[in-house]
Amino acid sequence: MLALGCDHGGFPLMAEVIKYLEDNKIPYKNFGTFSEESVDYPEFGKLVAHAVADGECEQGILICGTGIGISIAANKVKGIRAALCGDVFSAKATREHNDANILALGARVTGAGLALEIVKAFLETPFSNDERHIRRIKQIED
Ligand code: RB5
Repeated sequence: MLALGCDHGGFPLMAEVIKYLEDNKIPYKNFGTFSEESVDYPEFGKLVAHAVADGECEQGILICGTGIGISIAANKVKGIRAALCGDVFSAKATREHNDANILALGARVTGAGLALEIVKAFLETPFSNDERHIRRIKQIED
């Protein structure tokens, strides 16, 4: 199960992401926001981060205007490795190297076509399980 969260700035792109997930029969739980009315992004970053950290969802996608604020907020939760990605290479690499468990996107930065390619790469790329990457992730946790 994928946890979804966004603020008003991320809402239009989240609608595209949800369409992609539904077209591809990928299950998700949407933690909001549910409109373009102004809200505070830390609240939604926190909801999704806790859903992932607590094991309710395996991974998450967070979207705000830049992807920066909401990823900063999510990364405050222990066990969360939220990666802000604006290209497909980074999305693949952060799964392989960092075992990122949340993808963050910037709706005012990254167009929908590229964003959906990034989502696809993030969801389809497994962690490498390489010893050196496991060691480095452990160092982050410590
Ligand atoms: C909201 O205007 C905007 O600040 C937010 O979406 C995000 O870009 C913050 O990092």
